[in-house]
Amino acid sequence: MSFIIFSCTIAVMKAHILSLLPASLALASRCDPSFFTPYLSSNASLVYARTFTENDTFVGPMNNYTGLPEYCALYVNVSSSPVSSYEFGLWLPTTTWNKRYMAYGNGGFTGQIAFDDMAPGLNYGFAVVSTNTGHNSSVREAGDAAWALDNPETRTDWGWRALHGSVELGKTLTQAFYNASIDYSYYAGCSTGGRQGLKSVQMFPEDFDGVLAGACAWWTTHQQNWDLKIALDNLPNDGPGHITSDLMDVLATEVLKQCDIADGVKDNIIMDGYACEFRPETLLCDGTSNSSSCFNAAQIKTLYKVYGDWVDTNQTFIFPSFAWGSEAQVSQMIITSDDQVDSPSGIAYPRDFVYNNPTWAAEDLDYGTIALSDALDPGNATAAAFDIRLFAARGGKLLHYHGFADGEIPTSSSIYYYKQTLATLKPLGVDVDSFYRFFLIPGMQHCTGSVHNAPWYIAAANQAGSLAGNNVYGVPGFRDRRHDAVLALMGWVEDGIAPGSLVATKFVDDTPALGVLAQRTLCPYPAVARYVGGDWNVTESFRCE
Ligand SMILES: *[C@@H]1O[C@H](CO)[C@@H](O)[C@H](O)[C@H]1NC(C)=O
Ligand SMILES: *[C@@H]1O[C@H](CO)[C@@H](O)[C@H](O)[C@H]1NC(C)=O
Ligand SMILES: *[C@@H]1O[C@H](CO)[C@@H](O)[C@H](O)[C@H]1NC(C)=O
Ligand SMILES: *[C@@H]1O[C@H](CO)[C@@H](O)[C@H](O)[C@H]1NC(C)=O
Ligand SMILES: *[C@@H]1O[C@H](CO)[C@@H](O)[C@H](O)[C@H]1NC(C)=O
Ligand SMILES: *[C@@H]1O[C@H](CO)[C@@H](O)[C@H](O)[C@H]1NC(C)=O
Ligand SMILES: *[C@@H]1O[C@H](CO)[C@@H](O)[C@H](O)[C@H]1NC(C)=O
Ligand SMILES: *[C@@H]1O[C@H](CO)[C@@H](O)[C@H](O)[C@H]1NC(C)=O
Ligand SMILES: *[C@@H]1O[C@H](CO)[C@@H](O)[C@H](O)[C@H]1NC(C)=O
Ligand SMILES: *[C@@H]1O[C@H](CO)[C@@H](O)[C@H](O)[C@H]1NC(C)=O
Repeated sequence: MSFIIFSCTIAVMKAHILSLLPASLALASRCDPSFFTPYLSSNASLVYARTFTENDTFVGPMNNYTGLPEYCALYVNVSSSPVSSYEFGLWLPTTTWNKRYMAYGNGGFTGQIAFDDMAPGLNYGFAVVSTNTGHNSSVREAGDAAWALDNPETRTDWGWRALHGSVELGKTLTQAFYNASIDYSYYAGCSTGGRQGLKSVQMFPEDFDGVLAGACAWWTTHQQNWDLKIALDNLPNDGPGHITSDLMDVLATEVLKQCDIADGVKDNIIMDGYACEFRPETLLCDGTSNSSSCFNAAQIKTLYKVYGDWVDTNQTFIFPSFAWGSEAQVSQMIITSDDQVDSPSGIAYPRDFVYNNPTWAAEDLDYGTIALSDALDPGNATAAAFDIRLFAARGGKLLHYHGFADGEIPTSSSIYYYKQTLATLKPLGVDVDSFYRFFLIPGMQHCTGSVHNAPWYIAAANQAGSLAGNNVYGVPGFRDRRHDAVLALMGWVEDGIAPGSLVATKFVDDTPALGVLAQRTLCPYPAVARYVGGDWNVTESFRCE
């Protein structure tokens, strides 16, 4: 019996190797600049094309990658105007291609190819592409936009041109390499990457069959100024209303105390941070001193400003605010260290994009700044063209998600986006649910990670890199479309199976090798996951309603 199984396995293996080996050799031998050069547009030049085997290390700007399935790595430079250029990386698996193409987005104002996403993407079998968005800057400088000063062409590259151009040329090179057409094209990105995804749905509906967009920084002209507004709300640092990071910790504890139970489970996960009628007055100091454990009246006022919608002249709604439960990251957004008083976080956009004036002062932020930003929309970065019928008509699917403990980009800005899309399309007779679904992830911070062990991982952009382990990709142990948002999107696009729910996973210490700590059902908005009893660490204890 065992002999039969053994010989059978050998036969299968032989057939497998025979079918792959010649193709692999042929593909690896194509991985040379001379092969690709004829396919480049006149604006583009190839910096390198080189094969990496499983034993080779690709040295990236942030991390190194080794043990990946063999691939051909390309680096391409495209001149986008006489004074601007963008670069992109394209990795083509030589033996494991799944006939699909996947583009990854960026973060903040960063100009860096998303190798941290390309590596997991390659492990799925995708041909993967990502651009530096037209300038070089590290993810450690995500808030720095000095490159945008006097640089309208580079703003346009960042706004949309670098991604679109990279995707188009990347497709040409991919199809040439395999001498085959791409069956399906996908996109995954979070934050600025989420914006880029929505932008491409709006502007280039043909680029992708499916888009996975998270915590989208889509309302550039409002959100970027609002970043500065909330930092100013908490200045000056020596004023009576200034909230310190110690006080933000105190606030976080009180929020949990008042808001956790609202969803019926005392599990440290606030299922809806906007549903809680939080009363910060419980934190008022009761008498004489300014302690680091209570708020004075001026600090409570600051809190209401930071956590309130920004409504300005003539009751104009400018931007929504954070959900309760996001304090850990909000703290980083509103606390400006002393040496930065003249350049609080958020100043980059109005100064470097809108006024284009390095001496513009933060105190001059007002309604006029919003009006000017809207009038200019530098680089046409804002993704607010809600009529996405062309994307729907070509069969595109949009999967959108946002963490409920996001203290960088308010959860409600995604809710607002979804509602605006509905308000635009429903009256036109479009069934939005048939191609666009939006999932909120309770407890998840900005794109990745969670407070209090909330399940957050769905294998979306920026996530695999937050897990410990070598070459982690997808959801280890759960390679299916309920747990893996990329597979969910593929199932929707390729098999017409719309995601009715998803499951977020929390690994012990964010280390898949240590096993699963908890999992939780995620529901398509406006449905919410209601606790139906039992162990709250398992999906069966929640039902979408
Ligand atoms: C990688 O190294 C291992 C161990 O030395 C070896 O067995 C394997 O053949 C190498 N793979 C390639 C593609 O060179
Ligand atoms: C990647 O490898 C390079 C060259 O060996 C090394 O200098 C660098 O420190 C490594 N980076 C990381 C994050 O390990
Ligand atoms: C791409 O082209 C620009 C403009 O010519 C140049 O500054 C840049 O160094 C090039 N990048 C690479 C990787 O060669
Ligand atoms: C190529 O460069 C020209 C001028 O430099 C520009 O007008 C054109 O849009 C560029 N094409 C692409 C694909 O970037
Ligand atoms: C961007 O960084 C790459 C990789 O370090 C480098 O080769 C390239 O020349 C840089 N491009 C520009 C425009 O400085
Ligand atoms: C590409 O494929 C076609 C058939 O689909 C074949 O005729 C042609 O020779 C192939 N070209 C290369 C370079 O392999
Ligand atoms: C709290 O009291 C100390 C000592 O009197 C003072 O230096 C500090 O400015 C006060 N802080 C606030 C927020 O009022
Ligand atoms: C506010 O509304 C008034 C009355 O309609 C109008 O005259 C004014 O221009 C508006 N202000 C702005 C900044 O839009
Ligand atoms: C700006 O982008 C929007 C999509 O977000 C698009 O509809 C519009 O045509 C673009 N405008 C220009 C001038 O390219
Ligand atoms: C759920 O997991 C947490 C660890 O995050 C544990 O403390 C708790 O006891 C578990 N709850 C149940 C009901 O098993």
